[in-house]
Amino acid sequence: MPDFKQLIKDLPKAELHLHIEGTLEPELMMQLAERNQVPIPYSSVEEARRAYEFSDLQSFLDIYYAGAAVLNTRQDFFDLTYAYLERAAADNVRHTEIFFDPQTHTDRGIEFDVVLDGIEEALKAGQRNLNISYRLIMCFLRHLSAEAAMATLEQALPHKHRIHGVGLDSSEKDHPPAKFKAVYDRARDAGFLPVAHAGEEGPPEYIREALDILKVERIDHGVRCLEDADLVKRLVAEQVPLTVCPLSNVKLKVFDTLVDHNLGALLDAGLCVTINSDDPAYFGGYIGENFLQTQQALGLSSAQLQQLARNSFTASFLPDDDISHHIHDVDRLFRD
Ligand code: ADE
Ligand code: ZN
Repeated sequence: MPDFKQLIKDLPKAELHLHIEGTLEPELMMQLAERNQVPIPYSSVEEARRAYEFSDLQSFLDIYYAGAAVLNTRQDFFDLTYAYLERAAADNVRHTEIFFDPQTHTDRGIEFDVVLDGIEEALKAGQRNLNISYRLIMCFLRHLSAEAAMATLEQALPHKHRIHGVGLDSSEKDHPPAKFKAVYDRARDAGFLPVAHAGEEGPPEYIREALDILKVERIDHGVRCLEDADLVKRLVAEQVPLTVCPLSNVKLKVFDTLVDHNLGALLDAGLCVTINSDDPAYFGGYIGENFLQTQQALGLSSAQLQQLARNSFTASFLPDDDISHHIHDVDRLFRD
């Protein structure tokens, strides 16, 4: 029996579904609240952690957007991002593709550049000091209008060389991907690589819309695809990556427990599945913990762990040479 804990720690990984605002640990939230004189509804770290009990996606988002209000300056965004990168390095993350939600900040009067500059400076420092490569993906908040998303895209256009992709997050129910067709058409024309959250709480039809109407390269979550056999066939045939977030899915009641999670079934179906942490400060674990708890709950084999790590690089937006290099490093661990 392999030492799964050690194997998972040693496994080179790419993280492809991580909201940087979701890495705001209560300790840093308290510090930034003090530094910026922003009121927060918690008087201690313990009280904040106790409040992190969610009944569904929306109940999480309410708390998550409130927490983000402590992020005001370029230094705040730097500190947030660098703290995440240090944790990722401890989990042997070699490459990360992080989401940020500009509207969460610009709607509070924070300049787009302040957010982007702080995050990017930390990513560059992480590349230098921790050897973690990166891509940045800007998400549109789907509970807001398509016009607001278009205005956000316009703000991003002068920074095209700094932002690799666009994504779609926030409240999924009643906000189908089709609502953002024009925004995605324009974003793709401008050279942004498209991804979208779909099939987390929303129906398989939203996954189809993300593929057919938004023409996405990856589906974030996508776990509800198993309800539609034809859709699964297509996702397998086209090897569309699904960036699955097991601890998130349990915290947000997509599955009752990790034992009930369908990740094993997704792998068995031949889908290109990856494991990610989504909003680790709120969901109880970073990527290593997601791998470990899922391995234990579902009894994943070392071959399945190898597949998941390989998939994380294959599904990334890295150039092919870099992908081959990382996959070689993954495979080396399994040679004897
Ligand atoms: N924003 C942050 N985390 C999210 C998730 N899991 N689903 C949708 N929007 C999000
Ligand atoms: Zn997400």
